[in-house]
Amino acid sequence: GDLREGAVTWKSPSNIALVKYWGKKENQIPANPSISFTLDHCATTTTLGYAKRKEEQSGEYFSFDLLFEGKPKPEFRSKIIKFFERIEKYMPFLKDYHFSIDTSNSFPHSSGIASSASGMSALALCLMSVEKSLNPEMSDEFFNQKASFLARLGSGSACRSVEGEIVVWGTNDCMLKASDLYGIKFSYELHPVFRNYQDTILLVDKGQKQVSSSVGHNLMHGHPFAERRFKQATENLSDLTTVLQAGDQKAFIAIVESEALTLHAMMMTSLPYFILMKPNTLHIINKIWQFRSETKLHLCFTLDAGANVHLLYPENEKNEVLEFVKNELVAYCENGQYICDQIGLGASLM
Ligand code: PMV
Repeated sequence: GDLREGAVTWKSPSNIALVKYWGKKENQIPANPSISFTLDHCATTTTLGYAKRKEEQSGEYFSFDLLFEGKPKPEFRSKIIKFFERIEKYMPFLKDYHFSIDTSNSFPHSSGIASSASGMSALALCLMSVEKSLNPEMSDEFFNQKASFLARLGSGSACRSVEGEIVVWGTNDCMLKASDLYGIKFSYELHPVFRNYQDTILLVDKGQKQVSSSVGHNLMHGHPFAERRFKQATENLSDLTTVLQAGDQKAFIAIVESEALTLHAMMMTSLPYFILMKPNTLHIINKIWQFRSETKLHLCFTLDAGANVHLLYPENEKNEVLEFVKNELVAYCENGQYICDQIGLGASLM
């Protein structure tokens, strides 16, 4: 086909890893497999306008305008250009169009919540819609797979945001359908206790990340514990695969918290080393452990490459946990801010 112009809007969620991706090879190939909960409310909505490029627009190799939260955002341009360069092989039509990218996040700007997963997946999905309009026979399966494949080239973890509710990325020996090239929906039936699992995100430190994740991944090259860590991630994925089907929340907690602390342990033991937790991160962790031993509820935490804490817990414990958050944990959040989210179904065309 030869489509001249149009616009498309996708809303794509963030995700939170249970087994963490930390360390990569060439071409955004993960050094170990990972698995994540797709979120529901934390999302990026991107509208992509496209029009066949005119001769007079041929100044730069790629032609696009960019609005973030309604305003031009020149500092994001280089990221988009890098992304376009990486995906051009797979989308040869890119340079023939002028794009207008209009993107906004549901979560507060500079909340310390990484928007790369939701942002890159939303853009990848929009580009797939353009490709689909040129090639309308494309199957939904191919569409999702290629969207995830492209998203991975934008930001590794973004490939886990296209679908819900649980996504696996990276080859493994766990009898899980998976690929290094794109995320795939967890192929087993989830035990009912994990349905609508909750994620309350405590915003401990809303500042800019001290270390970008690409620098972090690179520090796993030559890291003294790298090989053992990659093996451990595979083992944890295998155990978690069983746990998610069996509904064993105690084992779930042990794996998920250990994964979070191991991610940070890798950062603390790399060269250069760094600490992304803040004192309030540790206060919160200690409060969670105390709460769990007193109440026997199934609240646990996980962390990204930052100071914010994700509280994971089953839906039927929501009232008690949110009481606890208000009474004890809000005090450790910057400006008392936290976000209530839960497992979601993946990206949607708007
Ligand atoms: O997608 P990246 O390159 O920003 O890496 C994200 C890595 C972690 O968020 C720390 C872990 C993960 O698996 O999402």
